[in-house]
Amino acid sequence: MQSGYRILVIDDEEIVRESLSDWLKKFGYYVETAENGVKGLEKMRAQPWHVMLVDLKLPDIDGLEILRQTRKANENAVVIIITAYASVDTAIQAMKDGAYDYIVKPFDPDEINLVLKKIIEHQKLVDENIFLRRELSRRYTFQDIIGKSPKMQEVFELMRTVGPARSTVLVQGESGTGKELVARAIHQISPRDQGPFITISCGALSESLLESELFGHEKGAFTGAIEQRKGRFEIADKGTIFLDEISDIGPKSQLDLLRVLQEKEFTRVGGQEPVRVDVRVIAATNRDLSQLMRERKFREDLYYRLNVIVVTLPPLRERREDIPPLCEHFLRKYNIENNKKIQRISEDALKQLLQYDWPGNIRELEHAIEHSVAIEKTNIINSGSLPVKFQKGPSEESAFGEDKPLDEMEKEYIRKTLKKHDWNIQKAAVILGIDRGTLYNKIKKYGLQETKDSLETQ
Ligand SMILES: Nc1ncnc2c1ncn2[C@@H]1O[C@H](COP(=O)(O)OP(=O)(O)OP(=O)(O)O)[C@@H](O)[C@H]1O
Ligand SMILES: [Mg+2]
Repeated sequence: MQSGYRILVIDDEEIVRESLSDWLKKFGYYVETAENGVKGLEKMRAQPWHVMLVDLKLPDIDGLEILRQTRKANENAVVIIITAYASVDTAIQAMKDGAYDYIVKPFDPDEINLVLKKIIEHQKLVDENIFLRRELSRRYTFQDIIGKSPKMQEVFELMRTVGPARSTVLVQGESGTGKELVARAIHQISPRDQGPFITISCGALSESLLESELFGHEKGAFTGAIEQRKGRFEIADKGTIFLDEISDIGPKSQLDLLRVLQEKEFTRVGGQEPVRVDVRVIAATNRDLSQLMRERKFREDLYYRLNVIVVTLPPLRERREDIPPLCEHFLRKYNIENNKKIQRISEDALKQLLQYDWPGNIRELEHAIEHSVAIEKTNIINSGSLPVKFQKGPSEESAFGEDKPLDEMEKEYIRKTLKKHDWNIQKAAVILGIDRGTLYNKIKKYGLQETKDSLETQ
């Protein structure tokens, strides 16, 4: 018996569908059928299949085309072509196009079972679980954005609707919820995808610097402006500009932005001539703009301009069902990066990840997995390899039990981390989430040294 093995049969002849389906069910497979190419492709896309049996001659779509589309959707798909004697040549062509095998009508049930057994054997080697899980997780993604929770599905729906338009989009959500990722995806599904995607972090610059970054400047506009320089709006022409941390911009820039949004033109700093551009604006904020508007820190007119389409990314703690697929996604990513073959996350570890509150959202989860992959020695992520905040040892309690200046806490924490990992700087840097240079500087700053003191806990 092959319970759980999913087979899709696409054939226009009822008798073929029924007899195949009966036999296969007798052998223990789960079977569904489709009577034409359109319905078949629909089913192919809607659910994962281990094997598809596809008739070469269908009334609407050619079997070879189904094969091509299926392989395009999933390069590992197993498609078997069903054919009459007359078209064996085409069937052989099909195999060159990626079909797994072909069977000739009228067929012998035992022959089919044999072919399927061969496939199953092969797929078992590949690991049936990975096979199905990968298929499933693909369905939760929107161009590499993972999210099977209803809240994220809503986000994807909205993105699909507004993506192709020119309208301004405001992406809001806590830090690390994926605002930039979403902005990029919107650009990618828009007709502007061949144009540039230009980002600017508005919070990082002073008002005058921001202005010349956004709009460029003329030669001699200010001391040091020795040449005319294009701003990001001009560079983003025919593409998308991503204004990150929009809540942080000052009153003058707010007014300038309002003008670009309304009139689609601006002047360079120190210039007279209006410059016209064709740019889509996507803005992001992790603060509540409406609140800032009520406090009169954000212009009302600009707020309403930006607020036309709002994509709100829910914090991770409100969509915990996304944690497992996200973990898998990052596990794959860091396996590749670290040249490792860690298969999964242990149940214990996953339980801890599911219970945690994730103030840093997905970025924090990504770092946690990166960290764990880096230090895990077995082929399963065990809870002991999760970052220190998941280790409920007494050291954590005591660190928070005392009142200490931040500096001292940092010094203490770095010292303990280094000690725990035998002064492996690379490892410690990953765990602390800083780069090696920064870690070296801090070691120097705090005058830390490797000691042989063994009385410490961690
Ligand atoms: N749904 C998701 N699926 C996969 N990766 C995600 C998802 N959401 C976020 N990430 C990853 O998490 C990290 C943080 O995402 P991003 O930079 O887009 O967040 P952000 O909201 O812009 O954060 P901040 O407010 O701090 O700027 C990135 O590495 C991104 O690829
Ligand atoms: Mg961001």
